[in-house]
Amino acid sequence: MGLLLPLVLCSLAACCTASSEPLSPFLSRSCNDTDVLAVGSFALQDINSDQKEGYVLSLNRVRDVHEHRQAGLGSVFYLTLDVLQTECHVLSKKAWKDCKVRMFHEQTYGQCKAIFYINKPRRVLHSLAYNCTLRPVPRRKVQFMCPDCPSPSDLSEPRVLEAVTESLAKYNSESASKQYSLFKVTRATSQWVFGPSYFVEYLIQESPCTKSQDSACVLQLPDSGPVGLCTGGLSKMNLKKYVSVTCNFFESQAPTPGGENSANQGPANLPKVEEPQQQNTEPTHSLSKAVSRGSVQYLPDVGDEQPEDSQEKPPVEAFPVQLDLTTNPQGEAVDVSSLFLGPMSEKLVVLPFPKEQDSAECPGPTKNANPLVLLP
Ligand SMILES: *[C@@H]1O[C@H](CO)[C@@H](O)[C@H](O)[C@H]1NC(C)=O
Ligand SMILES: *[C@@H]1O[C@H](CO)[C@@H](O)[C@H](O)[C@H]1NC(C)=O
Repeated sequence: MGLLLPLVLCSLAACCTASSEPLSPFLSRSCNDTDVLAVGSFALQDINSDQKEGYVLSLNRVRDVHEHRQAGLGSVFYLTLDVLQTECHVLSKKAWKDCKVRMFHEQTYGQCKAIFYINKPRRVLHSLAYNCTLRPVPRRKVQFMCPDCPSPSDLSEPRVLEAVTESLAKYNSESASKQYSLFKVTRATSQWVFGPSYFVEYLIQESPCTKSQDSACVLQLPDSGPVGLCTGGLSKMNLKKYVSVTCNFFESQAPTPGGENSANQGPANLPKVEEPQQQNTEPTHSLSKAVSRGSVQYLPDVGDEQPEDSQEKPPVEAFPVQLDLTTNPQGEAVDVSSLFLGPMSEKLVVLPFPKEQDSAECPGPTKNANPLVLLP
């Protein structure tokens, strides 16, 4: 990643001398540029590490990119990313590149927009804002392509809970000492294989119960959080039950000292941005840690919302992602001094999120070109 800056600077120099579009404040970039892909990757990593719930998102393609060069040495990128859900829980803190994308029939896909600030010399990589919208692949289409594939189940269904209970009991009975209890069910599907089969994913927490206390024990640790993600299965055939379970533990559940564990958590392999010593007690208005930088919104299956006979309605945008820090066409100054080490003041100009695509080389190539997960 150390190669990134020379590339950025070279392409900047090339663009500035060409001065092709004097009216646009943006530099035209290709969605297949190595450095654009790297910036997209950092931005998504930052979005993932900001989440407390759900699964890690992976980059399927860069749909659109605009770079706005700042007066300092940095740039603000306006990115539109097509994303796919992976099998890693966000609490695992795994890099999206290390996570397996889900199979098409159980895929959840969508789009993220991010306003991302990068200043390589000062070692700053920071999402100023983001928003994502995701939906599951339409069930009707999956059933058409793969009638026997598992289909989603309601997480509160008794048989889902039975699969959770049975698989966790199996895990606990095989565990040498520590016992675990259910924290939350995160996913469930069912399928008919010689009988009903349920497949579940759930977060577990450490249980203070000992093995001998068994299922009668209902003790809870005071503030125990999830420590891992289990995938379990329960199939029934005649009167026989088949139970399977695998649990993966998160690497670090320990909160970072000081409790500021999300705002500056950049990509793992980059130099950490350090907190400046706050001299005054006034909070920095624009980059306050308390302010949410964005959210990941999950919408239902499109097919559930729009029955087939409602074709007369105007087409609604299936993946609406709104992201605007300002509506002022001249832009607005955002104070990012708190991202820098030491007493320096740095302001960025943030523009309304560009609506028009201005590069012919966008969208970039897709990693997964299955039409089911390809946004229109
Ligand atoms: C992110 O989306 C939500 C609604 O989904 C919206 O209220 C919010 O303003 C958006 N954030 C920005 C910075 O535009
Ligand atoms: C993207 O770039 C790679 C090499 O950098 C190239 O092999 C590939 O053909 C390009 N794809 C598109 C769609 O331009």
